[in-house]
Amino acid sequence: MQQFGFPYQQSLKAQLPAHIQTLISAAEAAADTAYAPYSNFKVGAALVQTDGTILTGSNHENAAFPAGICAERALFGSLNMGSGNKVLAIAIAYKTENKDRHPPLSPCGICRQTILEAQLHQQQPIAVYMSSPDGQVILVEDASYLLPFHFSSEYL
Ligand code: THU
Repeated sequence: MQQFGFPYQQSLKAQLPAHIQTLISAAEAAADTAYAPYSNFKVGAALVQTDGTILTGSNHENAAFPAGICAERALFGSLNMGSGNKVLAIAIAYKTENKDRHPPLSPCGICRQTILEAQLHQQQPIAVYMSSPDGQVILVEDASYLLPFHFSSEYL
């Protein structure tokens, strides 16, 4: 039997480098712009590019539930994939009063596929910072770790 494993790092936001704290803060601020009247679960995502540009996105729900979009996909939908400017990292944050327990936000499966598409396109790893409202952060340095055995353009 073969096994798959990957490295990840758990820390507090306050322990991370200043530019990463800035990225996480941008994701937290983006969560305030979410339109989430059905779930009351507000998600914000932010990415930073090689030239220092930070883009943000938030979830945008719909009365026809499947028409809603996650923060990460709203974010990557606004990314110019042809600029040559690469994505170094993405941070994901959320705000909710739904639960007492608030672990770092792990992106949903479709969003993992979306993040990975950008990574494969730019041929450079995208670091994923998953954060919680109380400042816990999990870092995965390569988005492909979050989607083993992924589907990609290689099949097409
Ligand atoms: N959501 C995101 O925006 N990103 C994720 O990775 C997980 C879930 C949103 C979708 C929906 O608006 C709300 O959170 C509850 O599922």
